[in-house]
Amino acid sequence: MHRASKLPVPYIKTDAEVIALEKACRIVAETLSTLTKYMKPGVSTLELDQIAEDYIRSKNANPSCKGYRWGRHVFPATLCTSVNEEVVHGIPSDRKLVEGDIITCDCVADINGFFGDSAVTYAIGEINEEKKKLMRITEEALFLGIEQAIDGNKLYDICAAVQKHCENNGCSVTRELVGHGIGREMHEEPAIPNFLPPLLYRKSYPNVKLAKNMALCIEPMVHAGAKYTKEMPNGWTFVTADGSPAAHFEHTVLVDNGKARILTLRD
Ligand code: MF3
Ligand code: CO
Repeated sequence: MHRASKLPVPYIKTDAEVIALEKACRIVAETLSTLTKYMKPGVSTLELDQIAEDYIRSKNANPSCKGYRWGRHVFPATLCTSVNEEVVHGIPSDRKLVEGDIITCDCVADINGFFGDSAVTYAIGEINEEKKKLMRITEEALFLGIEQAIDGNKLYDICAAVQKHCENNGCSVTRELVGHGIGREMHEEPAIPNFLPPLLYRKSYPNVKLAKNMALCIEPMVHAGAKYTKEMPNGWTFVTADGSPAAHFEHTVLVDNGKARILTLRD
């Protein structure tokens, strides 16, 4: 996310709101599962986008990214499709994927006024060891972050768990983009960095106390190389500055006592 929410901070969902959120999240999870079988050399990112859009609309939900505004830029597609060194917000195109590519599909859908958000990095055919390790570490970091999303913990417990796992394994985390709360808006408070904020930034990323029924999008964005990114001229896509591959896994989770509930879990 990259903008502040207008809702109270952070917003605790009622049980009725949780049911609505679950519905949006289930559609997102099914969309990402559906995409798996198309992840083969020769598929274009625009074809993947069309499959995702058709699936979401077949469930009477909306593809929330399509038409999403950021300043004067409007996102044109259902999925963010980020290939290899692209970290986030890749724009679907006629680019065909080839053996050895990795691609992140980040998907947001809304229905009845509630949003769900999840992202997966997929491998196209056989990928090299660097990419395999990067994908594994990123997904493990996501689950270690989720383990911390429990009532009574604080936000920085999530941030620290994610960062530590990535950096202990020779990877780095994106600084320019962070996870977020979710619910009636795609991006609600709190902002969820994948790193322990440096002292000067702690005001922008308050270390809120986590409480039951907060809905959080935890989303490590991880580079095989250095932490620096560049923004592309299209105004959306972030790439690693050193051209190293990047991976991104995201779930919408509900804070609970003892164990968080993953609302976008795929079967
Ligand atoms: N999951 C992405 C995020 O939280 C979705 C971005 S949608 C876009 O930032 F429209 F901004 F691309
Ligand atoms: Co998100």
